[in-house]
Amino acid sequence: MSATYSFFARYYDAIYSEKDYKSEVESLHKTIQALKRSEGNTLLDAACGTGGHIQYFRNYYNAAGMDASKEMLEVARGKFGDVDFYQANMTEFDLNRQFDVVTCLFGSISYLITKESLHRAIKCFSDHTVRGGLVIIEPVFTAETVRPSSMGIRCVDEAEYKLSRVSSSKREGDVVYLNFHYLLATPSEVEHIFDPSPMGVFSKHDFVDGMKSAGFEVIGEESGLSKEAIFIGIKP
Ligand SMILES: C[S@@+](CC[C@H](N)C(=O)[O-])C[C@H]1O[C@@H](n2cnc3c(N)ncnc32)[C@H](O)[C@@H]1O
Repeated sequence: MSATYSFFARYYDAIYSEKDYKSEVESLHKTIQALKRSEGNTLLDAACGTGGHIQYFRNYYNAAGMDASKEMLEVARGKFGDVDFYQANMTEFDLNRQFDVVTCLFGSISYLITKESLHRAIKCFSDHTVRGGLVIIEPVFTAETVRPSSMGIRCVDEAEYKLSRVSSSKREGDVVYLNFHYLLATPSEVEHIFDPSPMGVFSKHDFVDGMKSAGFEVIGEESGLSKEAIFIGIKP
C-alpha cells in the first residue's frame, strides 16, 4: 500500500470531490440485482478508502468496509459511525464473515504488484463470499488498455489550505509509476510530497485466471465505471 495515504487521507475527499460515487453505485446496484443468486444483502467494499461508495451502497445493502490504511478508515468512520470498518490487507485478511457481494473499486486492486498477490487477494475475496454471491473488481487499467505514459492535474482551493497534485506516469515492465507530486500550502509553509504510487499491470487473462482459481465463475467483464474493464464473478 502507498504510505502516502496516511498524509493523503485528510485531503482524499476534496481531491476526488468530482467523482460521481452516487451514479457508480446506482449502476453497480442494477448489475448486482441482475446477477446475484444469493438471498442476503450484505456487501463488503474491500479497500474502501474513505467510504465514497459505501455512502450510497448503504441505501441498498448492509455494507461494511475494509482498508489497509488506518487514516483512511478514520475518515470513513467519522462519516459513517453505524458501518463496520475493518483494518486489513486485502492479500491476507480473515474477517470471520461472508458477504453476498465483495467489491474492490476505483483501481485499489492495482496497488498489488505481483500476480501472486493479485491471486491471494482474489482468494481472500472468495473466502468472504457466500455461494451465489458476487465479486466485482475494477482495476485502474489492464495490460490491454494501459498507456505508456499519461499526465494529470488536480487542484483544491480551500480557505485553510491549497493543494495541487500533478502527475506524469511511466511504465517500467509490468509496473506503472503514477508519480504524484503534491504541493500543499498551509498558512505556515508549502510542503512537497512525492508519491510514486506503483501500480501492477495485469492482463485481462490474469484477472479472469485469478477469479477462476479462487472458485468464481467469471460472468463477464463489462465496460467499467471509469470506462475500464470491470471483472465480475459469481461463487457457484
Ligand atoms: C484509490 S483509493 C480507492 C478508495 C475507494 N475504493 C474509493 O473508491 O474511493 C485506494 C485504496 O486502496 C487502499 N489499499 C491499497 N493497498 C491495499 C491493500 N493491500 N489492502 C487493503 N487496502 C489497500 C488504500 O489504503 C486506499 O484507501
